[in-house]
Amino acid sequence: MLADVQPGDFRGSLPESAPEDAESLERILDDFEALVPPASTHWNHPGFFGYFAISSTPPSVLGELLTAALNVNAMVWRSSPAATELEEVALGWLARLVGLDDRFFGVINDTASTSTLYALAAARHRAAPDSTVAGLSGLPSLRVYASSEAHSSVDKAVQTLGLGRDGLRRIPADAQFRLDPAALSSAIEEDLRAGVRPAAVVVTAGTTSTSSIDPIAAVADVAEAHGLWLHVDAAYGGAAAVLPERRPLFTGWERADSIVVNPHKWLFVSLDCSALYVRDRAALAAAFSLTPEYLTTAEDGRAVHLMDYGLALGRRFRALKLWFVLRAYGASGIRNRIERHIDLARRFASWVDGEPGWERAAPVPFSLVVFRYAGGRGDPAANELNQRILDRVNRSGEAFLSHTVLRGRTWIRLAIGNARTRIEHVERAWTLLREAAEAEGSAVVLGDSIQERP
Ligand SMILES: Cc1ncc(COP(=O)(O)O)c(C=O)c1O
Repeated sequence: MLADVQPGDFRGSLPESAPEDAESLERILDDFEALVPPASTHWNHPGFFGYFAISSTPPSVLGELLTAALNVNAMVWRSSPAATELEEVALGWLARLVGLDDRFFGVINDTASTSTLYALAAARHRAAPDSTVAGLSGLPSLRVYASSEAHSSVDKAVQTLGLGRDGLRRIPADAQFRLDPAALSSAIEEDLRAGVRPAAVVVTAGTTSTSSIDPIAAVADVAEAHGLWLHVDAAYGGAAAVLPERRPLFTGWERADSIVVNPHKWLFVSLDCSALYVRDRAALAAAFSLTPEYLTTAEDGRAVHLMDYGLALGRRFRALKLWFVLRAYGASGIRNRIERHIDLARRFASWVDGEPGWERAAPVPFSLVVFRYAGGRGDPAANELNQRILDRVNRSGEAFLSHTVLRGRTWIRLAIGNARTRIEHVERAWTLLREAAEAEGSAVVLGDSIQERP
């Protein structure tokens, strides 16, 4: 599953230049089969549990195919009325599915990183409408806040927006890896006293390392008290809001200025498809809309032009695959799949809890389990041991998992998200993990490093 190649291997199997003469599709496909899958890491395999596992499902593949066949560019409404309006319709359906009301206006971006960048661009524009980068020209610096567990895309967005190295203030997370609203309030007060201007706060519903959920309502209170833009990163976790019984975990997100949910993460839509919702559509447009003469149209003022809501002019017809998936599975089909994944994760967590020597780092609110095998070892040795267990399992080719480091400890992450993952895949991963722990754990511990027993 993990590509068994070294950097440069794949490139080395290809000619230096494009062929002078046309080649047959048959030959091209033969080469594809022989060369590309062996040099690919198979994200679409049901035994893929790394990062956040994803799915490219049949309706989504069909949608992608037709998107390529149509090849429309939805920059302004008339350049593709269907793509423009289906984006609004499909995102309206998705919003209702996750319990958000019609006040949210959605656009599809490539990734959550872009969605968060755009949300924070709107926040910056609202805080400093003249677009002068605060911090320069003697203006007070703008500050964005997020917990220590927020995704690195927040750092990238802040850097890209020119808010400087101190533009993002990370608030230490609590014992369960959640943003502490009291610590956030203190940080804001301190910044205000220092002449820094608080602009936005990012909360996460489903952090990357542990899937922890920040207390959104309490943070919304702080954001409202200080007039901050509230952005909710629900890139992964947002999918779970399709289940009414999981909705309380998201309480307060309806008060956000912007929310990102990635259908390409846990909603069975192929890469790439990231939904950005904003409460005030004009605020997003204010940061991005700019119309050169050649793009003015007779529909201006009475139709949505997607180019007004982001950096890119050209836009793919991404809504098609989302629409196909929502229809082909139906709301109940999506709920069933998400529910099954959460149930599989809970079962895996119960196996970890019941096995001597194994431990978990965090609760399992969604479909991610974070765990390790320590077997009585101290930290440096346990860290190295878990890296070796992980490498051994990944080398098996039967399962793929990834790692995280929390407070100096290495943990293994098992994320369930592929539509085809069944109990037997999760059981197999658990067997492989225990076998790897037995093989690696029987190594002799010498000081801080583990060495194979002779
Ligand atoms: C919580 C969270 N936010 C944002 C991202 C970035 O997602 P993308 O790859 O769509 O930019 C990730 C990636 O896994 C994530 O886990």
